[in-house]
Amino acid sequence: MKKWKTVKDEYHNINNILNFHRSTMHHKSNMSVNHIIPVIDNLLTKDNEEDSRIVEIDPAELKENEDEFFKILEQRRTSWQFGTPMNREQLSALLTKAFGISQRRKFGEFWVNLKTYASAGALYSVEPYIYINDVEDELNGGIWKYDADNSRLVYVADTDVCKVNGLTSTTKFGVQSFEKSKIILFFVANFEVIFKKYGMLSYRLVLLEAGHMCSNLQMVSTKLGYSTVPIGGFYDLEVKKMLKLDHDRVCLYMAAVG
Ligand SMILES: Cc1cc2nc3c(=O)[nH]c(=O)nc-3n(C[C@H](O)[C@H](O)[C@H](O)COP(=O)(O)O)c2cc1C
Repeated sequence: MKKWKTVKDEYHNINNILNFHRSTMHHKSNMSVNHIIPVIDNLLTKDNEEDSRIVEIDPAELKENEDEFFKILEQRRTSWQFGTPMNREQLSALLTKAFGISQRRKFGEFWVNLKTYASAGALYSVEPYIYINDVEDELNGGIWKYDADNSRLVYVADTDVCKVNGLTSTTKFGVQSFEKSKIILFFVANFEVIFKKYGMLSYRLVLLEAGHMCSNLQMVSTKLGYSTVPIGGFYDLEVKKMLKLDHDRVCLYMAAVG
């Protein structure tokens, strides 16, 4: 019988992922990311069309009664204008539509809660943490973890919007502010289970999964009338401390809603 070829041990050493992740971190001292890149002109110039095969794609016109989903795709825009109030009911709608359970299915002997976004191996290794800024007194000022399987928020820590403004380059230097936002999402990879199954590949998988989740968040927020800002420029170490993340967890992506 043909045997599986064993992969190198390094592929199953989680420190490789954590060290690589550390080398990509955004620091307060790292202002170079805000510099204009000198090659930007080249990036904006068109491909040499003469050398390319070209097929025209006609833009599809939206018809009056066209499916609402297409309208939401067109309306989705990154915006720091957080003008729409949110109550607990609207928060629940947002979380359950963006990240909730859409089906229960049996895999072998196990029942799995499938959610509204795609997940590598259906392991749901990216956890949504939420800072609630302005929804309801009982929840405001807290960081919570959304546990979709049990339809609940689990308390993590207390903070305030000034401290949250210190987490991203855009807000720390007053270019924009989270002051009027209603909630801030943190998409946190938990490598505990996924790494055992996929080794080094799990690093790519969690990044892709976080993208799916943030996309869902933007679509549902747009549908409910909220502005959103996806945020990659956050200071990793400050976020890790605020969310009290352990060794196996890293924040991949943030998003503000309001
Ligand atoms: C991976 C990623 C990271 C982003 N990070 C930031 C950020 O740190 N701050 C910010 O203001 N916008 C951020 N954005 C939003 C982009 O600026 C925005 O998507 C882009 O200008 C296109 O505009 P649109 O989203 O309205 O189509 C990010 C978007 C993506 C996809």
